[in-house]
Amino acid sequence: MAEVKLDFLGSLQRTHRCGELRASDAGSTALLMGWVHRRRDLGGVIFIHLRDRDGITQIVFDESRNPEQHKRAQELSGEYVIAIEGEVKLRGADTVNPNIATGEVEIAAAKIWILNESRTPPFPVEDNVDVKEEVRLKYRYVDLRRPRMQRNIIMRSKVAFAIRRALYAQGFLEIETPFMTRSTPEGARDYLVPSRIQPGTFYALPQSPQIFKQLLMVSGYDRYFQIVRCFRDEDLRADRQPEFTQLDIEISFLRDGQIYEIIEPIIWEACQAAGRTVEKKIAFITFEQAMRQYGSDKPDLRIPPFHCVEDLFAGTDLAREGLPLAAIHIPKAGTLTRKERDEIKAAGQERGLRVYDDSKRLERDFPEQMARVRERVKPADDDLLMLAAWAGEKRGALPEQTALLACGQLRLFLAQKYADRHKLLDPEVLKFVWVVDFPMFEWDEEEKRWNAAHHPFTSVHDDDLEKLTTDPAHCRAKSYDLVLNGVELGSGSIRIHRRDVQSKVFAALGFSEEEAKRRFGFLLEALEYGAPPHGGMALGLDRVIMLLAGEQSVREVIAFPKTAKATDLMCEAPSQVPEQQLRQLGIRVVNPQ
Ligand code: AMO
Repeated sequence: MAEVKLDFLGSLQRTHRCGELRASDAGSTALLMGWVHRRRDLGGVIFIHLRDRDGITQIVFDESRNPEQHKRAQELSGEYVIAIEGEVKLRGADTVNPNIATGEVEIAAAKIWILNESRTPPFPVEDNVDVKEEVRLKYRYVDLRRPRMQRNIIMRSKVAFAIRRALYAQGFLEIETPFMTRSTPEGARDYLVPSRIQPGTFYALPQSPQIFKQLLMVSGYDRYFQIVRCFRDEDLRADRQPEFTQLDIEISFLRDGQIYEIIEPIIWEACQAAGRTVEKKIAFITFEQAMRQYGSDKPDLRIPPFHCVEDLFAGTDLAREGLPLAAIHIPKAGTLTRKERDEIKAAGQERGLRVYDDSKRLERDFPEQMARVRERVKPADDDLLMLAAWAGEKRGALPEQTALLACGQLRLFLAQKYADRHKLLDPEVLKFVWVVDFPMFEWDEEEKRWNAAHHPFTSVHDDDLEKLTTDPAHCRAKSYDLVLNGVELGSGSIRIHRRDVQSKVFAALGFSEEEAKRRFGFLLEALEYGAPPHGGMALGLDRVIMLLAGEQSVREVIAFPKTAKATDLMCEAPSQVPEQQLRQLGIRVVNPQ
């Protein structure tokens, strides 16, 4: 870096931020601080775009008026940190910049302080530049200066504030719970923290504050919330991080259905804070309906549902006992080329489905049935309509569900394929939906046992209590998910507050009383000390912000995220540690990578 004489900040004080000045400020003196966004040297006049998180202001250095300060401005480069003072002036009509909020004014610099220099940044501090994500993450502190990232991070802060405000308005208390704890019940792998004081023992970082928030209900802290970091060692995707943030909520004496009344205003406030308008009331769908209409437990309502039409084709080659036949309908797909039809067939095959896409042939072979399909689906002339059926052997403990999931995936494949053509998956459209009445248990084919579909503290439906021992496959849980545009935003349930019911559920899950006591003994004991009926939920804040910001990945809305390999490229974490540190912890690394 060139040798530049740097000034001290001393007692200098900003009068405005870089996005604040307007025509009405003309004639006043302003002192601004920020980064040199751009410098244009026209010889006798130098223009600087000065940037902070609030905006950009144009500064003018005129050699004829102020030769000494003009000379200093010649030393500036991109991303230098400066303070300037001068008179706010109206720009001439032909030089007004309508693209920035301060575009009607500029500052005639009377004095400049150069507070720090900068190396040439690894990429321009601008949007729409082609930079690899690895480079962005390595220099995240530069990346975070780009307008898009600033918008996302600032929106995140505003949304979190709006959520807090909405929760306080409903009488919630914010209470912290420990990070160094025991294994929690969310089903992913734990991150472990070794204890130095008790070598050979480990804390687990919480996958969620589930148990603590239930204990807080037992303690009487009705209406708890926390915006809290959770840790899960699982395979990562665009909507998953190893550490992520939940808006975690628990409520005592929560009657059936009350959770929606509590959460919907919070969601509405969050959307408002992000500048997005949504309806105040969110629609419901049961898990069973979601599967039979969308082939998914997180349906994307921007695309129309499919229709199960196996009843219409009973006795024909198309319908098979106990399996669905789905009429999938994508609006305005138009006429498909031969190649496109082959691609769709192949996509179906990959998912285990046989696709009947030849509508002329279907009409010829099954005229009556197809007339009734059209009555149900009501397609327009240029809509795509096809039938899909499970092709192979029945698979899994619930073959109907396996087939429905495949139909759902094909529906999404088709929508994504034609999304560009018809903006079917428009991120500007926000379609929330509650999915309710999930099954209580999921069959684990490998372990040949039932697992809790949500977590083992979830209440069973009042009508299904008897089925816990006789028919676990058809037990419904008092649980609910909030879904937005096909992404699971959050989930929750009414909890079990009675020790006897909890024992029954553990038994259905194949936990011995000893195992249950070993893992969750303190919670079980607490249930014996006057646990009130309670329930709650947790929303994934990163996912909420991702969708409100119209982003495709949670990494775009987290200040310092990790890569798909759970690496922090900037800090280079995880990393090896000195031998001595390991010795203190009583740890020896076998097979280092
Ligand atoms: P669940 O495990 O469904 O429920 O998590 C709640 C929400 O947290 C978000 N989420 C994640 N976000 C980013 N990265 C991850 N790895 C990740 N894992 C989960 C999702 C999800 O819907 N204790 C229960 C809640 C309750 O019953 O109150 C729980 O944690 O948006």
